[in-house]
Amino acid sequence: MAQVYIHTFGCQMNESDSLRMLESLARAGWTAAAAPEEADLILLNTCAIRDKAEQKLYSALGRYRAVKKARGALLGVAGCVAQQEKEKLVRRAPYVDFVLGPDNLAALPELVRSAREGTRQVATDWMDSEAYVFPRADPSQSRGRVTAFVTAMKGCDNVCAFCVVPHTRGRELSRPYADVVAEVADLVEVGVRAVTLIGQNVNSFSGGCDFASLLRRVAAVPGLARLRFTTSHPHDFGEALIRCYAELPVLCPHLHLPVQSGSDAVLARMRRDYTTEAYEAKVAALRRALPGVALTSDIIVGFPGETEEDFARTLDLVERVRYDNLFSFVYSSRPHTAARLREAEWGVVPYSVQIERLGRLQALQRAITLEAMAAKVGTEVEVLVEGPSRTDPGKLSGHAPGNQMVNLDGDAPAGSIARVAIEGATVAALRGRQLAQVAAAPATARPRRARLPVVA
Ligand code: 5AD
Ligand code: SF4
Repeated sequence: MAQVYIHTFGCQMNESDSLRMLESLARAGWTAAAAPEEADLILLNTCAIRDKAEQKLYSALGRYRAVKKARGALLGVAGCVAQQEKEKLVRRAPYVDFVLGPDNLAALPELVRSAREGTRQVATDWMDSEAYVFPRADPSQSRGRVTAFVTAMKGCDNVCAFCVVPHTRGRELSRPYADVVAEVADLVEVGVRAVTLIGQNVNSFSGGCDFASLLRRVAAVPGLARLRFTTSHPHDFGEALIRCYAELPVLCPHLHLPVQSGSDAVLARMRRDYTTEAYEAKVAALRRALPGVALTSDIIVGFPGETEEDFARTLDLVERVRYDNLFSFVYSSRPHTAARLREAEWGVVPYSVQIERLGRLQALQRAITLEAMAAKVGTEVEVLVEGPSRTDPGKLSGHAPGNQMVNLDGDAPAGSIARVAIEGATVAALRGRQLAQVAAAPATARPRRARLPVVA
C-alpha cells in the first residue's frame, strides 16, 4: 500500500490541514508512513510567517530530495509558502512534483494522480467564497482522538503591517455555524473530548451568528468536556466573549490574546488599532469575570523604528500583565506587507539589537512563567488525560484547564479527566499525582499515538 509522510510547519491551522490531507489520501488507499525514508509521497505543509520558517522548507526539501532519488518518492509542497511562491517554487526546486495552496486541499488526490503520470501542477487559485467547501474532519478517522481542531473561519481581513497571512490565506470567510456545531457533535460521538475552534482571526467569526453565540452553541454539544479557540485579535474581544468565559463551564479558562508590542507608537505603525490601555482594560475585565484565567500572548521585538524606549514599554507591559506564557519573535521582513515598504523610512532595527531585546524579553517571561507554574504546586487541578507522556517516560500526560501541560503518575485512561495533586513545576510543565478520576473516558477513546504521522 502506498505511504505518505507529512511534515508540518507553522500553526494549528496547518496541523489541522495536514490531518485533513492525510484523511483524504487515506480515502484513496494511502497509509501514514512512520518515516520519510519509507514514504512514496512526502508532503511539506509550510509556513511563511517568518523568514526562518521559509528557510526551513528549503533545507527540508534538500533532505527529502535524497529520499526522492533513492526510491522515487513524490515530493509535494502545500501551505503558506506554496501559496506565496506558486510557480516560483518549482523554478527554484525543480524536483518538486506539485504545489498546493491552502484553499486547494480538495485537489490533493488529483494532483498526486497526475504527478504519478508525470504532470506537474501548481494549484494556488483562490476559491470563490460561494464555491469554497471547508475541509471537515472525517469522524471515522478521528475515532477515539482525545482532542481535535475544528475550523470556524479562514483568512484574515486585518491589515497588520508585519503580516503575510492575508496574502497567503486570503480574505476572511466563516463557516455556517450549523456546520461547525455538526462537526463538533460528530467528533464527540467518536470519542473526542476537547475541541479547539481555529481560524486566523477566529473571534471575528460571522457564519450566521457572532463568535460568542457560536461558542454557546458548541458548548451545548452533549459530551464535550472542553472547548478552546485560537487565535484572537483584541479588536473583536469584548463583553459578549467575556460573558462566555463567566458562564460556560466547558470553555477553558485560557485566552491567547496577542498584544504584539507594549508601545502605542509601535502599535500604531503595526496598524493594530488599539492602545495598550485599551488592551489592558480588556484583560482586566476578563480577569474580573474569571479570576485566575490563564493568559498568553505574542510579541514582536525589533519592529522597524522600535526604540529602546519603545522596547522598555513592552517589558513594562509584560511585567504588568504577567502572562502565563508568551511567544516572542524578532521582526522578520515579509513580502507583500505594508511594513516592508516603510522599513527604510522607519529605520530597520539591527539584527544584533533585535536578538538582544528578544533575550531580555524571554528572560523576563521565563521568570514570570516559572512563578505562575510554581504557584500551582500544592493545588489540585483537573487534567484531561491524553496518553503516555512524551517527555517523562512512565508517566501520563495531559493538559490543565489553563492549558499547562501536566505529567502525572496515575492510571486514568486517555480521554478521562483526573484530579491531580500538583507536586512540581518547570517553565514547560507541571508534575503531579492522580488523586481520583472525575470523569470517565468515552468507550471509544484510545491513547494518543506514540508517533504522529504529522511532525511539527
Ligand atoms: N515577523 C515576526 N513575527 C511575526 N508574526 C507575524 N508576522 C510576523 C513577522 N513578520 C508573529 C505575530 C503573530 C504570530 C503568529 O507570529 O506575533 O501573532
Ligand atoms: Fe504560518 Fe500563518 Fe500560514 Fe499558519 S497561517 S502556516 S502561521 S503563515
